[in-house]
Amino acid sequence: DWTMGNVIADQVAAIREQVGDKQVICALSGGVDSAVAAALVHKAVGDQLTCVFVDHGLLRAGEAEQVEKDYVASTGIKLKVVNAQEQFLRELKGVTDPEQKRKIVGREFIRTFEAAERELVAEAGAHGESVQFLVQGTLYPDVVESGGGTGTANIKSHHNVGGLPEDLQFQLIEPLRTLFKDEVRQVGLELGLPEAIVWRQPFPGPGLSIRIIGEVTAERLELLREADAIVRAEMSAAGLDRSIWQCPVVLLADVRSVGVQGDGRTYGHPVVLRPVTSEDAMTADWARVPFDVLSKISTRITNEVRDVNRVVLDVTSKPPGTIEWE
Ligand code: XMP
Repeated sequence: DWTMGNVIADQVAAIREQVGDKQVICALSGGVDSAVAAALVHKAVGDQLTCVFVDHGLLRAGEAEQVEKDYVASTGIKLKVVNAQEQFLRELKGVTDPEQKRKIVGREFIRTFEAAERELVAEAGAHGESVQFLVQGTLYPDVVESGGGTGTANIKSHHNVGGLPEDLQFQLIEPLRTLFKDEVRQVGLELGLPEAIVWRQPFPGPGLSIRIIGEVTAERLELLREADAIVRAEMSAAGLDRSIWQCPVVLLADVRSVGVQGDGRTYGHPVVLRPVTSEDAMTADWARVPFDVLSKISTRITNEVRDVNRVVLDVTSKPPGTIEWE
């Protein structure tokens, strides 16, 4: 019968059979799917798996550490971390167009991952081993979507950091191909992954780069990270994590407005809160977050985040607005 325990047992057996004594690599994005896929493969073949985490500097506060520490501690997975923050910032310099940002992040991610992969292949070769398999966190809806051809207009070129081009030298292992998101979460919990990873809300592959309206710089990323951390903390404290689909926090980096704080005039940036409810992200409604929670968030952000002097709420459904601003 169809329980997640059985799914795990079946997949572990199938992966062992498929892999034999060969080596396997997997790119971790920080998201649920790649984390669960890798954990499943690790359960099957242990140290024959090496994961690569490209830290592009566009994740939220604490997320890179979550992968590097909590995830590794709970799974025992071998992890190679590539710090590529400066490289991504350099490539994004001067870029304001949303699709351009997506293309750059996607391209640099693949470039960086492939360089790490070549190193791993060379290291394995030096030990007389060969890397022949690549793990992907493809879910059932992804399989249906890419085969389906629904004819919907391409609004945004979604770049998914888990989704690498099929490199011919590797065979793919896709242990989540038959599962929906809620089942993937159950598998993750059964495998003992941290709740913070298993219950993570959706987060776009291009990360914070598409939540800064304007050029992406290190300073702006820092501001946005601080504001976003406050929003996440207050939403969690109010018990809203599971009822809200996600809440992008957007920095209007090229907009300034006048404010007053203490006895001084300020001329800072607004941040936008974009809390939404949704079933599948295809449509969404703006979430009716209680006023006292919004109030607390607003007070904390304007008090604690330098250069942000205004907090605004996005009350647009999807359609017509998309969830992300870019
Ligand atoms: P939109 O903004 O199109 O977003 O309403 C729908 C869902 O997709 C996420 N999103 C992305 N995910 N790569 C991703 O992996 C992307 O380029 C990307 N753009 C948007 C967004 O967070 C929402 O959950």
